[in-house]
Amino acid sequence: MAEHKICLITGASRGLGFHLAAAFWRAGYSLFLVARNNVELNHLLAMLPPMGAQRARAFVADLSDPAASKRITETVCSEFSRIDVLINNAATQGPLGPLWSTTADDWARAIQVNLLSPIDLCRGLLPLMIDQRSGSIVNLSGGGATGPRPNFSAYATAKAGLVRFSETIAEEVKQFGIKVNAIAPGAMKTAMLSEVLADGAEKAGDREYSIAETVFATGGTSMDDVARLALFLGGDASLGITGKLISAVWDNWEKWPEHREELAASDAYTLRRIGGRDRGFGWGDK
Ligand SMILES: NC(=O)c1ccc[n+]([C@@H]2O[C@H](COP(=O)([O-])OP(=O)(O)OC[C@H]3O[C@@H](n4cnc5c(N)ncnc54)[C@H](OP(=O)(O)O)[C@@H]3O)[C@@H](O)[C@H]2O)c1
Repeated sequence: MAEHKICLITGASRGLGFHLAAAFWRAGYSLFLVARNNVELNHLLAMLPPMGAQRARAFVADLSDPAASKRITETVCSEFSRIDVLINNAATQGPLGPLWSTTADDWARAIQVNLLSPIDLCRGLLPLMIDQRSGSIVNLSGGGATGPRPNFSAYATAKAGLVRFSETIAEEVKQFGIKVNAIAPGAMKTAMLSEVLADGAEKAGDREYSIAETVFATGGTSMDDVARLALFLGGDASLGITGKLISAVWDNWEKWPEHREELAASDAYTLRRIGGRDRGFGWGDK
């Protein structure tokens, strides 16, 4: 085991997580794969071509259960000697519709899956990475992290929180050689968007419904592009690149290693407040 790098991916049973698992496997990582659907996880394991001593382990867990992260981290610590990459990919859209039409329980559940469980996995696995003096955490951001997303308030709030969390712990752990970044993957043709179509424009809003329709018609963001970015962030080529929110669609991240110091000293690719001065309002600032 020890000669292979270990990557933990949540939400690996379908969609982007499934794709990431196949890509990290091809890149030589052993895998610890988490989701609720045991059948789909086993289907994924069966699809991975044999690769010498590389190992893939499926772990069934429901991340809406606050106790799940502890079970995951305990199992990783006892069965694997290290953890190289943690990808917090699992997410639920949560209740769609304006806030007053949602229930507090559904809202809290989305925050648990999308924000608190990823945080708990980081808390549980960082001690291993700190001991190793290496590691990479990749948190999947989503629509609403950088701007309002009406009718998706729980999802947007969780994703914005996850990005600021990533920026914050990136500062805490950079002294140990650990990177923490967030990826904005772009709209992908997965079950998450088909849920928007199933819920309809009444709940999701006309704009979101029409985006989902377009993505289903045109194919959306290539999951290969997202996987290439995740592999870059997981590996040594991205050393020193941390605390950033990186778009798989728009950002020229392949060039970033040539500008490590400039990036590290800059607040580019981070969440910031836009002041009136930034928009040319002469009246907005003292
Ligand atoms: N699709 C898009 O357009 C889009 C855009 C921006 C960002 N993203 C982000 O990209 C990531 C992947 O999204 P996707 O489109 O691949 O979504 P998806 O197809 O809906 O897959 C979500 C994954 O998360 C798992 N999951 C959901 N609830 C869970 C729970 N309670 N416990 C454990 N696992 C759970 C699901 O597995 P089980 O059902 O088996 O548990 C599944 O493997 C997410 O973080 C999403 O927010 C997606």
